[in-house]
Amino acid sequence: MAETNAPAAAPDVLVEQGGGIAIVTIDRPTALNALSPEVLRALLGIFESLAAAGSDVRGVLLTGAGGRAFVAGADIRSMSSLTPEQGADAARLGHRVAAAIEGLAAPVIACVDGFALGGGLELALACDFIYATDASSFGQPEVHLGLIPGFGGTVRLPRAVGLARAKELIYTGRRIDAAEAAAIGLVVRTFSDRDALFAGARATLDEVTTNAAPAVAISKRVLVGAAGRRTESATELEVEGFSDAFRTDDMHEGVAAFIEKREPRFTGA
Ligand code: CAA
Repeated sequence: MAETNAPAAAPDVLVEQGGGIAIVTIDRPTALNALSPEVLRALLGIFESLAAAGSDVRGVLLTGAGGRAFVAGADIRSMSSLTPEQGADAARLGHRVAAAIEGLAAPVIACVDGFALGGGLELALACDFIYATDASSFGQPEVHLGLIPGFGGTVRLPRAVGLARAKELIYTGRRIDAAEAAAIGLVVRTFSDRDALFAGARATLDEVTTNAAPAVAISKRVLVGAAGRRTESATELEVEGFSDAFRTDDMHEGVAAFIEKREPRFTGA
């Protein structure tokens, strides 16, 4: 893939960009791609740059290098001597990365091939959905370290799998395989190997990018914003989003194309 208009990548995180798709790879395989503060800051900068690129980015694949891990968690070594206040700062940095991913208008697919543990699972949960190879495994093992999930696991894992399953996973710290993760709805699709995973994720983004970009972006904004809100407040967000769709050229084009029995010509406006 050509590296055109790519945001400047930092060491340990690579970005390839072309054809409206960005592939962001955490590249720290000797530590199983553990999220050091440097990696988190690099991810934050990259997702902020992708947001600034606006409609040039129609979809993102987030993955880990090395064939063994998506991300094996927050960097345990970097946490060993933190004060409680520094621990709070570390958690807030993880939350800022998650917010940048959720705030990006384009969909982000977590492509998991190997371990997605602790902060790694939390990073994947901040993506729109998770695709994984059969060889992958998932868990929130923080209690084994005397910690709790710090990058959103207590919030997003229950939303993904239900409160009782999230409690079971967090209290035990148990690791589950891709088949079980798919069975409980944590993983949306599984694939035999990494090549099939990327082919599948790209095919999904190709499908998404034939649609009206503003409608996809507004859907994401409403879905992310509505999560965890009370019904009345969540449905009001949907009302605003539905109304905003009427402000777009693509909505008028899509409806006209249906009535005229032709394919729509979306422009992303
Ligand atoms: N932080 C820092 N380094 C890590 C790491 C992590 N989360 N996970 C793995 N590594 C390092 C190992 O220390 C090891 O480095 P060295 O070769 O320098 O010793 C290297 O990656 C390879 O790991 P292992 O030798 O342990 O590989 P393994 O195949 O025997 O085990 C594993 C793999 C089961 C994933 C094991 O590495 C492991 O349990 N890792 C920690 C998982 C974990 O507890 N994650 C949660 C972290 S806390 C957190 O994430 C808090 C939060 O919510 C914000």
